[in-house]
Amino acid sequence: MAAGNSFYIATPIFYVNDVPHIGHAYTEVAADVLARWHRQSGDDTWLLTGTDEHGQKILRTAVANDTTPQAWADKLVNESWLPLLDAINISNDDFIRTTDARHETAVKIFLQKLYDDGFIYSGEYEGYYCVGCEEYKQLDDLVESASGDYAGKLVCKIHSIPIEVLNERNYFFRMSDFQQKLLDLYESRPDFIQPESVRNEIMQFVKSGLKDLSISRSSFDWGIKIPWDDDHVVYVWFEALLNYITAIGYGTDNEQFRRRWPAVQLVGKDIARFHAVIWPAMLMAAELEVPKKVFGHGWLLVGGEKMSKSKLTGIAPKQITDTFGVDAFRYYFMSAISFGSDGSFSWEDLSARYHAELANGFGNLASRVIAMINRYFDGAVPAASGYIAADLAIQATVFDATLQADTAIERFAIHEALASIWAVVEALNGYITVQEPWALSKDDTQRERLGTVLYTTAEGLRALAVLLSPVIPESADKLWAALGATGLGALTEQSIPDAGRWGQLLPGSAVQTIAPLFPRIESPEPGVPAAAAAAAAAAAAAAAAVTA
Ligand code: ME8
Ligand code: MG
Repeated sequence: MAAGNSFYIATPIFYVNDVPHIGHAYTEVAADVLARWHRQSGDDTWLLTGTDEHGQKILRTAVANDTTPQAWADKLVNESWLPLLDAINISNDDFIRTTDARHETAVKIFLQKLYDDGFIYSGEYEGYYCVGCEEYKQLDDLVESASGDYAGKLVCKIHSIPIEVLNERNYFFRMSDFQQKLLDLYESRPDFIQPESVRNEIMQFVKSGLKDLSISRSSFDWGIKIPWDDDHVVYVWFEALLNYITAIGYGTDNEQFRRRWPAVQLVGKDIARFHAVIWPAMLMAAELEVPKKVFGHGWLLVGGEKMSKSKLTGIAPKQITDTFGVDAFRYYFMSAISFGSDGSFSWEDLSARYHAELANGFGNLASRVIAMINRYFDGAVPAASGYIAADLAIQATVFDATLQADTAIERFAIHEALASIWAVVEALNGYITVQEPWALSKDDTQRERLGTVLYTTAEGLRALAVLLSPVIPESADKLWAALGATGLGALTEQSIPDAGRWGQLLPGSAVQTIAPLFPRIESPEPGVPAAAAAAAAAAAAAAAAVTA
């Protein structure tokens, strides 16, 4: 496919103090769906993810585990973070680690430029710091712990761990210079920060006044040295944010940098402030373009609270994928939660949607259509002739769904895109019920009509495979092969904006057989919480009752 406009999307780089949970996987999947969609729209797409490895949090974790921070980071990256990308089928084009030499080199170039241009000065920092957040704190970010180990101590509201009181000579970035420029940016580009709730919060924060930012630390050395003063390492956030440009050749490969930058930044709303305030201010100081957009998605909640490593409420992605599969994992989080809002995860909801939408709705549709073409037409996709209103209605649904899904993705409304696509699943199921191909098959005079009905359903599935390939790549690919559509090229080569154009599947294509794409989950697997097994059994029983 010819390379079109640049679509460079980056996830946050995750701390390697611990293993990933489904919150991290959620960000990865959303970024991956957007990247795959844009790739199949002909955009010059680049998906970046990676790990954030410096700072006190990682240093302390390593020390607590009797090892060095580098060895700890290597272990977590190789044993947990890279395998996660594989396990949930992320199509990233690059993976950056802040311990990469390419990152260190470019961070130093960036800092030196800001220093030479007068945006950095040496000063005294006196105040609070939360190692959990790796963030300088104000008094109203803190609370006195009422009970437990830290009773009577000042703790961070987010991490509930005691705060550090710092008194250090540090280097400062003149962030206060950028207050008005940032406000102008937010005003002139209303979709720079999305969704609206995050935008409002950030604007209020900046209006209340920006201080200069301490960007170095000297009481420990796990970080990148300040180029003109090696008693200091760069403040971990200041350095981490730079990954988005160091990974695409800032300071070292201008051609690649100009080709990709600026990025779309997808982050959780917990770190939207860093990305929508500090980051654009840094870029403005360096005379670089600000990101195209900062989208702060919502949180996965457990028991009404943000799922988190530090609060030990994390659920490992594997707990879900082992039972439901990778595609169901991806589909569930993208369809069940309005992208931008918080969402509560529950095994019951996952299991109910899996059975209703994927097993009975989509998977069953695919199996039936393939089976009927095998049975009635000896495995060759029949030709259509004499379309009637019901057939034309399907064509219109497919066309509209493509358009709607595409505009929803432009707005990052992934759940809306899926809802539009699902209108096709429902329309095709309804069409089969009304057209009764099994009845047509018993009447020789209806042979042509049967061909038209089965072509219509197969061509509808062809469009579905294309539209769903960014979300459920493995299942969509199985369907593509089963339809005998590989003659049109690989599924990932199909143009999404063109998916709604009727008549692409060639009559005569040889359909294959297809195993159920989303088999019913009737019996508990080892390691699946009882609730999931019970919900799965209930859903299976309900499905059996309907088909009986
Ligand atoms: O903040 N729901 O890394 P981190 C949804 N290293 N998303 C969640 C989530 C939840 N419950 N929990 C985590 C850092 N996430 C820094 C970032 S970027 C230059 C540096 C996701 O390991 C979400 O994307 O704490 C959130 O913003 C991110 O993980 C925080 O990951
Ligand atoms: Mg965090």
